[in-house]
Amino acid sequence: MARKNKKKKASKQAKSAKPTMASQADRHKLYQESVQDSEFELDFVQDTFKDLRGRKPVTLREDFCGTARTACVWTKRGSENRSWGVDFDKEVLDWGRKHNLNKLKGKQKARVELIQDDVLTVQTPSVDVCLAFNFSYWIFQQRKDLLAYFTGVNRSLNSDGVMFLDAYGGSEAHTTQVEKHKLEGYTYLWDQNKYNAVTQEMFCHIHFRFPDKSRMDKAFSYNWRLWGGREIEDLLLEAGFTNVRFYIQQFDEDDEALDEFKETREVFDHDCWIAYIVAEK
Ligand SMILES: C[S@@+](CC[C@H](N)C(=O)[O-])C[C@H]1O[C@@H](n2cnc3c(N)ncnc32)[C@H](O)[C@@H]1O
Repeated sequence: MARKNKKKKASKQAKSAKPTMASQADRHKLYQESVQDSEFELDFVQDTFKDLRGRKPVTLREDFCGTARTACVWTKRGSENRSWGVDFDKEVLDWGRKHNLNKLKGKQKARVELIQDDVLTVQTPSVDVCLAFNFSYWIFQQRKDLLAYFTGVNRSLNSDGVMFLDAYGGSEAHTTQVEKHKLEGYTYLWDQNKYNAVTQEMFCHIHFRFPDKSRMDKAFSYNWRLWGGREIEDLLLEAGFTNVRFYIQQFDEDDEALDEFKETREVFDHDCWIAYIVAEK
């Protein structure tokens, strides 16, 4: 009898140990789906480069590349296109090799190189465009480090090369808050968890929540400095770039974000702005 009871208990435990949606999810896959839009970013990069330089860009370096999704999409866009992805984290690069790079066709794959290195010191061939997206360069908290990074990128660009970054700001950026987006199969949360109003240091997390109530908390965490637009511009110019342009995301009358970025330096009284910053060598 006692044995039977034990068995029952064990099977109950096995039932409650059923894997949750969170435990089965892959954080890199979720990140790519919810945060990144490589196709849109690359459309912007190609169109803007063509407008500024009168030719198509061919070579691209993706700094802070993570899973290198953008570097991989780049080689699919043209038979001459080549890319280099740089990230110092082996785990994320290995994931990118398996899920992005290895899914490319032979010739496309041969035109992508993933480099495990620090973007501050990495040496790559000269490229037409260098990208630092999703605010990754905010990891540099000291002025001298951000200047060194921009200087290194400037040196690695062809003579008509262009650097593309993004940035955000407005009053909401200087507060703690959680932004939720319901996506297919899960909810994405951007958690501005802690903010130092003096140093502009911020601590942010990405969490995911699932319909079975399971959660993946702190799937990604960032300790950044919230850099202002003028500070970034000043550093880019000091690093040797000749011109810096801001392209600000536009909103409709109902305050819904549009897939449209307009070149302007004037954003008055916005609680939230987001921009591509384009720096010409
Ligand atoms: C926010 S993810 C960016 C992923 C992707 N580029 C995007 O646009 O969404 C930041 C990445 O930067 C990498 N990283 C941070 N500091 C770095 C550094 N100094 N050198 C190289 N990679 C760095 C991290 O390992 C992480 O994969």
